[in-house]
Amino acid sequence: SNAKRQVLKGAYLTFTGDPFKTDPADCYLYESDGLVVLKDGKVEMIGTRSLIEPELAELDYELTDYSGSDKLIMPGFVDCHVHYPQLPIIGAYGTQLLDWLNKYTFVAEQAYSDIDYAKAVAEVFFKELLRAGTTTAAAFCTVHPQSVDAFFSEAAKLDLRMVAGKVMMDRHAPEALTDTAQSGYDQSKALIEKWHGNGRALYALTPRFAPTSTPEQLEATGALRREHEGVYVQSHLSENTDEIAWVKDLFPGRKGYLDVYDHYGLIGEKTVYGHCIHLTEDEWGLIHESGTAIAACPTSNLFLGSGLFDLDKAKMQGKPVKVGMSTDVGGGTSLSMLQTLNEFYKVTQLNKFSLNAIRAYYLATRGAAESLYLGDKIGSLETGMEADLIVMDLRSTPLIDFRMNTVKDIEETLFVQMTMADDRAILATYANGRLVHARD
Ligand code: GUN
Ligand code: ZN
Repeated sequence: SNAKRQVLKGAYLTFTGDPFKTDPADCYLYESDGLVVLKDGKVEMIGTRSLIEPELAELDYELTDYSGSDKLIMPGFVDCHVHYPQLPIIGAYGTQLLDWLNKYTFVAEQAYSDIDYAKAVAEVFFKELLRAGTTTAAAFCTVHPQSVDAFFSEAAKLDLRMVAGKVMMDRHAPEALTDTAQSGYDQSKALIEKWHGNGRALYALTPRFAPTSTPEQLEATGALRREHEGVYVQSHLSENTDEIAWVKDLFPGRKGYLDVYDHYGLIGEKTVYGHCIHLTEDEWGLIHESGTAIAACPTSNLFLGSGLFDLDKAKMQGKPVKVGMSTDVGGGTSLSMLQTLNEFYKVTQLNKFSLNAIRAYYLATRGAAESLYLGDKIGSLETGMEADLIVMDLRSTPLIDFRMNTVKDIEETLFVQMTMADDRAILATYANGRLVHARD
């Protein structure tokens, strides 16, 4: 290939293991004087500068200097659950989930029948995502197939690894936002054929949640999943108590909310459920056994008053489950993973658990990638991984600059960053080895 080799010089951090299973101190690599070599969209080499420099002696490359104690190279963030069409209604006042859907969401989503509108929002969404340092997201589109075309075609321009799908809803939503079991099936199938594995795009079957799909639609979704090896499933589960009561009413024959999805073949690997705030013991067990992943959405859960996600239960009670950090914009209030971790720490404090920095950044990088079964491609910096990474400015505001004078190590540095920093701390974002965001 004639693509030029790029070398980034500076301190870097990456995760090598699961800090909920082994000592967090053994789960990451921090190198204060490193080189990261990018070639053909992959990490070609990474290591201590003194070890990598001799390897580069005969090679042609372009060097970018991010050295200094005020910068840090790390994997791009991975957002496991977000609604790009809701960006125009982020921060809408006064309601909890079901009212919020009717009052704001189902109004806003109708505009995506217009592909030009959808493309315009997708363009803003990706710009903001990259400005926040997020390089992969699992996104909900709307019921309109053109909302998916808009999303993936804008993502392709930036060469981003994205997971997304057409929302399926065939009841309990405005006429303009509903499909049918048959049309939802046909449209999803056509979109899988068009987008799944096209460049870096991956398709997710996206029934919105059990209340807005008939049994026939959930049945059809299960069939699509069986017919298309490797496609994802994403939806919502046990976010709000009124929602859970409604599901019990709508599916009286099922044991509970997760049993609805299980019944239709919608749990397991490459399946991600947003929220999971109010799970029963049986549901925790089934999520653990099946390899289903949970998208934890703290800013959304606080904003919509849904509840507190129990990370201690998810990770430390003998039946660990996959958890990936998620913004859930527009129920969530920020696309910044740093701000999302800030809120998640406070949620865990209220559960007497106290998420530490190593675990937190793991959940937003490698752990999130593993939740999407993409841990072999993204989420870590090592040879052969896709070159999706960020450069953080550790002194991005006057107060953070002042605060950094008294931190004693990388863990404290990371914790202060997740508490105080936001998109202003993202100096540069690279996707597939290419610079896709540079601050100012
Ligand atoms: N449950 C069903 N749809 C949605 C949605 O758009 N956002 C959130 N937070 N929960 C949902
Ligand atoms: Zn959501």
